Amino acid sequence: MDTTQRKWWKEGVVYQIYPRSFQDTNGNGIGDINGITQRLDHIQSLGVDIIWLCPVYESPNDDNGYDISDYKSIMAEFGSMEDFEALLSGMKARGLKLVMDLVANHTSDEHHWFKESKKSRDNKYRDYYHWWPAEKGTPPKRWSYFDVDGNAWKYDEQTDAYYLHYFSVKQPDLKWENPKVRQEIYDVLRFWFDKGVDGFRMDVIPFISKDITYPELPEEYKGNFIPFYSNGPRLHEFLHEMNKEVLSKYDIMTVGETPGVNIDQALKFVDEDREELNMFFHFDLMSLDRDGDEVFWMRDEPWKLTDFKGIFSKWDAVFAEKGWGSLFLSNHDFPRSVSRWGNDSEAHWHNSATMLHTFLLTMRGTPYFYFGDEIGMTNAYFDTIDAYKDINTVNRYALLQQEGVALEDFLDNEKDAARDNARTPMQWDSTRNAGFTTDNPWIGVNPNHKKGINVASQEKDEDSVLNYFRRMVQLRKSNLGLVYGAYQLLLERNEQVYAYTRTHENESFLILLSFSTEEASVTLDEIEFDKLRLLISNDAAEEEKTDSKFVVKPYQAMVYQIL
Ligand code: NOJ
Repeated sequence: MDTTQRKWWKEGVVYQIYPRSFQDTNGNGIGDINGITQRLDHIQSLGVDIIWLCPVYESPNDDNGYDISDYKSIMAEFGSMEDFEALLSGMKARGLKLVMDLVANHTSDEHHWFKESKKSRDNKYRDYYHWWPAEKGTPPKRWSYFDVDGNAWKYDEQTDAYYLHYFSVKQPDLKWENPKVRQEIYDVLRFWFDKGVDGFRMDVIPFISKDITYPELPEEYKGNFIPFYSNGPRLHEFLHEMNKEVLSKYDIMTVGETPGVNIDQALKFVDEDREELNMFFHFDLMSLDRDGDEVFWMRDEPWKLTDFKGIFSKWDAVFAEKGWGSLFLSNHDFPRSVSRWGNDSEAHWHNSATMLHTFLLTMRGTPYFYFGDEIGMTNAYFDTIDAYKDINTVNRYALLQQEGVALEDFLDNEKDAARDNARTPMQWDSTRNAGFTTDNPWIGVNPNHKKGINVASQEKDEDSVLNYFRRMVQLRKSNLGLVYGAYQLLLERNEQVYAYTRTHENESFLILLSFSTEEASVTLDEIEFDKLRLLISNDAAEEEKTDSKFVVKPYQAMVYQIL
């Protein structure tokens, strides 16, 4: 292959950490930076290359750090800048790279820019944010994610004006149209790059450009405002400028979080020639089990494997010649991957967790795993409203109550949809609080840490989810074809088995994955059976194949080399 196209961030495996829930070392029930440093050996032992660290900057924590009050300081609950530097040098010593979270669509209302901005209409920071003077009447409707009234404009008495907040009232949107704002953000990026940080994941990055005449929302977006938010008129101009002024000066990676971006717009972000970003997270899969445009509401009918395959196949094709994809099944905003795409019942948990690992590690694109996936952590399935800590659940409940939604129905939905499902503490061992903290954890620990879903027990078992994950990471790393190889879907219409090949230069692989609780029997005429060598399987059962027929056990995963 053209070696100029090879990049460390294409070949690396990413491990995402939600610091609040990873490891507490000072006994306050909240994870901290020293906790991550303490666990670096574990992370290294997984074989992953890159850590994506969710926000650790100073923040009043209205949205757990996604509301930043100082981009250049560390949140006191998480530690100090010295702790951060110790973490970074511990990572460098182990060959691990660090990707931070850039949350620059909005700040906290406690950021000094905003505190100044709201003081007077002629304050020098006034134009850092979006203001609508009240004498112009009520501003055209904008929807907000976490607002108790769903309204993204908040009236502020001090200057008799409304400010815009796509997320909570404590997350005012920055006005990127002001060149000073952009320079401030570039300065933040340089600050962290100069410390040795290796990249950024960019929070809701397509939302940064807005039509600052704030027109009425066009009719076509009334049911779903997200594509409107993500299609701002100057978005690509801003991304290109950021690339030219900062990103291009460092050997770093960028991955945008891009709700509302579809395949037609994809290459605008990541075509190398356009000099914007390296990768992004689309939301097609994350919407698959959701109710139309209601991103946080579950659909009644179960999702279908053919649709799942369709999403991955469609997106793979987009990046076949240009750009590069990112692969993820879960993160801090969605339920646990094994509970959502696999099956967390006792009978199927092991195979489905390891099958999903096999899937992500044999697809083209950079795989992102969320902490705890390596041991198959499952949803929290909280029973009471008080167990939830997330502003998204708490405020949405307030909003839906006004609309008459019953608590029981809401809780039912949250069991499958809530972000807190994925925010419970890392399960290190089977002791009290799973070895996460000595105090009361900030959010409930999943009781299944006592039943084998913990690192310590899985270390001892060769066939554990954890040890399978390690073997699977090594398999990807020792076969470049699994990183760069062309993807070809087989059995397109099969609702039980996902089958595909990956081919690169002289290497070829066949991957068979069951997404079913029933045994499946599949015929693959295009494969020459005597040329198959099994590289890995997640099931102890003997492989069964005769002529062109395979018997695939429930949630079984098999990777073959085609000789
Ligand atoms: C996306 C982040 O992943 C999420 O956790 C956060 O609440 C919103 N953006 C707002 O920053």
